[in-house]
Amino acid sequence: MSNDPPHLPVIGNPPSAPVVEPLDLTEQELEEGIARLKQERNAVILAHYYQESEIQDLADFVGDSLQLSQAAAKTQADVIAFCGVHFMAETAKILNPTKIVVVPDLEAGCSLADGCPAPLFQRWLEGYPGHTVVSYINCSAEVKALSDVICTSSNAVKIVKALGDQKIVFAPDRYLGAYVKKQAGRDDIVLWQGTCMVHEAFSERRLLELMVKHPDAEVIAHPECHEGILRHAHHIASTSGLIKYAKESPKQTFIVATEAGILHKMQAEAPGKTLIAAPPEDESCACNMCPHMRRNTLEKLYLCLRDLRPQVDVPEATRVRALQPIQRMLEMSV
Ligand code: 13P
Ligand code: SF4
Repeated sequence: MSNDPPHLPVIGNPPSAPVVEPLDLTEQELEEGIARLKQERNAVILAHYYQESEIQDLADFVGDSLQLSQAAAKTQADVIAFCGVHFMAETAKILNPTKIVVVPDLEAGCSLADGCPAPLFQRWLEGYPGHTVVSYINCSAEVKALSDVICTSSNAVKIVKALGDQKIVFAPDRYLGAYVKKQAGRDDIVLWQGTCMVHEAFSERRLLELMVKHPDAEVIAHPECHEGILRHAHHIASTSGLIKYAKESPKQTFIVATEAGILHKMQAEAPGKTLIAAPPEDESCACNMCPHMRRNTLEKLYLCLRDLRPQVDVPEATRVRALQPIQRMLEMSV
């Protein structure tokens, strides 16, 4: 710990992606350092279920996208260290403009957010006048600013149903959108054609092989999965919903079709149960991991708390416009 600087200056983002300095610290020293910096900074660590297990174990709160937004909305901390991907930290910043929001790795993006650039989205929306724009939280602040209401995988069906017979466009996830259409009985919803690179990669063929090998297992799947997976699922839910189901179901074995980081908390919540990760098409992998989520490490978490960078910022005009559909979602989710 003697490497620590004598003071902890508050600084903004460097002009380019930060170079991660090599830290000669053991895992225990890193964990102790993170705990100490958290206190000094009056920081809260929020982590998504897809994070590495050692990050989840250090976090003050681990949750799904909705729970993390709710936690960000009510935190009293001065600093939010967001262990997840960029759009999640951006949402925390939109809700907390006066707080410092830092991320371990500013480059931790999301294929759904990246696949829906705001200028293209804006032009696309011009083709659907009079439609209510429902955007999945996995999108940029600029896309949120063009939306009427945000949703997550845990409240998307509820929010769309609450909109009654309004004409709807749904973006950016076409698989979640298709699932919502089915659940809400709304064939007419217009979908942006984005996908999650992780949930799109699951293999129906390899899933069927696993189902034959484990005939008593239940398949539980995230709604970002493609139809080839969802059609075999006994239960479809957000990350927190899947953990709850594995915990409460009388079944003993589950084939889990979502990012493999979820298995850490799921196993803790459902001890003694057998959890099998659904595999991707790539034969060399037994489970599916999000390369964006995996950019975050304990070292980078330590550094972001120490240096208060990289910070996530949102231009004020965008923030104010993006806040409205997020608040609408939070109000519709209580
Ligand atoms: P939830 O945790 O809200 O289910 O979202 C999953 C996800 O893919 C986040 O990137
Ligand atoms: Fe985005 Fe998919 Fe990674 Fe979630 S798992 S952050 S949706 S790429």
